[in-house]
Amino acid sequence: MIKFLRELPKVELHAHLNGSLCIDSIRELAENVYGKQAEEFTAMCERFITFEKGAKLNECFEKFGFVHELTSTRKGLQYATELAVRDFAKDNVMYLELRTTPKSNANMSRRDYLETVVESIKNACNQYAITVKLLPSINRSEPVEVAEETVALSLELCQNDPDIVVGIDFSGNPSQGKFSDFMPALELARKHGLKLAVHCAEIDNPTEIREMLKFGMSRCGHGTFLSSSGFAHMKDHNIPIECCLTSNVKSGTVSTVSAHHLKELMEADVPKVLCTDDCGVFDTTLSDEFILANETFGLTKSQCIGLTMEAIQHSFATPQEKLKMKMQLYSYTRRHEN
Ligand code: IMP
Ligand code: ZN
Repeated sequence: MIKFLRELPKVELHAHLNGSLCIDSIRELAENVYGKQAEEFTAMCERFITFEKGAKLNECFEKFGFVHELTSTRKGLQYATELAVRDFAKDNVMYLELRTTPKSNANMSRRDYLETVVESIKNACNQYAITVKLLPSINRSEPVEVAEETVALSLELCQNDPDIVVGIDFSGNPSQGKFSDFMPALELARKHGLKLAVHCAEIDNPTEIREMLKFGMSRCGHGTFLSSSGFAHMKDHNIPIECCLTSNVKSGTVSTVSAHHLKELMEADVPKVLCTDDCGVFDTTLSDEFILANETFGLTKSQCIGLTMEAIQHSFATPQEKLKMKMQLYSYTRRHEN
C-alpha cells in the first residue's frame, strides 16, 4: 500500500510556496545561494519543524519568517520555487497548484516577486514531469490596498501566462483582518475569470463563515469549523474542501488525525481533496498524507484513486490537462490492479 501511494500520480491543490520547502531543500538553498554552512542552520531547522503538543495556530505563522528571509532576493526566490517544484515532482505529484503571497522589499517589488515565480515555474516544468499553476495569495493581515495590487498584477500576468496564473488564494492568519474588506478585490478577480481558493472556517468564526459561504468560492481551504449545514452547502454547490491532516493537527485546529473532518466528509460524500498546506513546515509529503489517511481511516486503494480523481476534477487545469491526468492515473491503476 505504501509503495502504491508513493508511486501514485498525485494532484496537490493546496501548497504555500514558502511553507513547502523541506529541510534538505532549505539547507540546499541557504548553502548554494547565500553560502551559509549547513551546521549554522541545524538548530534553526530543528525549531522550524518542531511543534509543541497543543501548539496554537497563531504561533505557526511565526515560522514562515525563517524561509521568507531566504526568498527575499530574486535568486533565492527563483531557487526556492524550483526546489519546491522538484520536491513535489519527486513525490510523484503530476499536477501542482502553488500559492504564494507577493512581497515587496528593497530587492524586489510585488511585480518582480510574481514574475520571478512565474519564470521559475516555467524553468522547473521544463526539468521535471509536472504541470504547475500559480495562485497569487492575498494575506488577510495586510492592508486591502496590497490585496488590490495583488489582484491587478495577477490579472495582468494571467493575460501573458493564462496557462500558469489561474486563481487567487485568500489566506494568512485567520484571527486577523476582516473578510468583508477584501470582498471587492476578490470579486474583481472572479469577474475577470480568476478562480478563488479561500481559507474558510479555519477557526470558529460563524459570522465570517456565513459571509464566505454567501460570497462563494471555487474551493474551500480547511473548512474545519463548518457545521453539518456548512458541509451540506459545500455538497450542494460542489465546492471541495481541501483537507490537510498533518497541518491541522500540528497547528492545533484539530485535536488528532482520527478526529479530522475528512471522515465525516467521506461519509457524507462532500467533495474533498487531500493536500499538504505547508509540507516543509509540517514535515510531510502528499504521499505521507495519503498514507496517514489509509492508516487512520482505512482508506482503500480505490478510495485513494477516487480522491485523486476528485482533485483532478476540482483543479484549475484546462480540460485537456484534466484528460491527460485522468489517463495517467488510469494507466497507473491498470498496471497495479493486482
Ligand atoms: P508564502 O505565501 O509563499 O509566503 O507562504 C507562506 C504564507 O502562506 C504564510 O505567511 C501565510 O500567510 C500563508 N499560510 C500558510 N499556511 C497557512 C494556513 O494554514 N492558513 C492560512 N494561511 C497560511
Ligand atoms: Zn493554507
